[in-house]
Amino acid sequence: MEIYKNISLKPYNTFNIEAKTAFFCIIDNPSSITQAFDFAHTRNIPFLILGAGSNILFTRNFDGLIAKFDFKGISIVEENKDNVWLEVKAGTDWEDLIDFSIDNHLSGLENLTLIPGKVGSAPIQNIGAYGVEVKDVLHAVTAFDLQTAQYKTFSREECNFGYRTSRFKEERGRYFITSVTFRLSKAFSPALSYEGLKKHIESRGIQPSLENIRNAVRDIRRQKLPEVGVIGSAGSFFKNPVLSLSDFEVLLRRMGEIPHFESGNNIKVPAAWLIEQCGFKGIRRGDAGVWPMQPLVLVNYGNARGEEILSLAHEIMEAVKNKFGLALEPEVNII
Ligand code: EPU
Repeated sequence: MEIYKNISLKPYNTFNIEAKTAFFCIIDNPSSITQAFDFAHTRNIPFLILGAGSNILFTRNFDGLIAKFDFKGISIVEENKDNVWLEVKAGTDWEDLIDFSIDNHLSGLENLTLIPGKVGSAPIQNIGAYGVEVKDVLHAVTAFDLQTAQYKTFSREECNFGYRTSRFKEERGRYFITSVTFRLSKAFSPALSYEGLKKHIESRGIQPSLENIRNAVRDIRRQKLPEVGVIGSAGSFFKNPVLSLSDFEVLLRRMGEIPHFESGNNIKVPAAWLIEQCGFKGIRRGDAGVWPMQPLVLVNYGNARGEEILSLAHEIMEAVKNKFGLALEPEVNII
């Protein structure tokens, strides 16, 4: 495994931010993980594991080792009359997994199409969109524990999944996920709990098949979200605030109408709405901006620096705090 020095991170983050790392390596098989870790450990420098760089904002140069994982592969490990279990190596592109599932008529992942990133990163923040979260179809996660230097397989329950979180996020930096196993269905039943998707399908008279649902989600995403690789972004920059029913009622009495969604016993308030109400939708500060179609997404229109995106994020957080008394929490990892 080669270790490169003083490497630009611009090609390795979807925000297209220019920053440098002191050391960089590509891990193309799991056995190189310990080598990379030992390199950082013996020099006492920070160690960062990177996938597609689609959920990260670099605000400074990184004075350590960044290890990008890049081992790919999808294999069927078990099958019965209803389900198929797929073991997918961490470096597999998320969209390649969606392609595989559609080509093989396996259902469960179609609503999660076009989410940028690698399969190994998906469980960390329990990615979700259009009524489905990765935890709904995930069977197990295998990871290398950098603390004990041993591999461990976590069942779905052991992953402690929550809204955009998991044990891998809570104990950030401890685990190097090497593969994820999914349980997909042979029979197709459309997941249409997300109102916008249901309306999209019904209003166009679309037959809800596996492929049609995927295409509908693609169409909706393309209308709302900036195209990855064309405009710098990392998807939603913030999480939607989740309030207890009583806190929500207090807010409602103070503010009047507020869009909201049930989330277990709690209430999720769309951060996009809060940001829009504070007047940030579509604004620009130099090359840092708030996406005009979905204000939860911060964008780099060209040469924004990480600090500029972060300072815009802080401006938004302060405005939302002042107007609504709510603390927005970044979803993106800020380095
Ligand atoms: N809204 C506005 N103004 C806007 C857009 C939205 O007020 O310009 C309000 C509306 O009330 C709308 C609500 O926000 O009903 C929710 O908007 P949307 O359905 O677009 O979803 P979101 O909650 O803003 C979440 C995920 C997205 C995911 C979508 C669709 C988070 C942090 N984000 O966004 O995930 O694609 O739902 O399911 O939960 C990502 O994580 O990177 C991501 C893009």
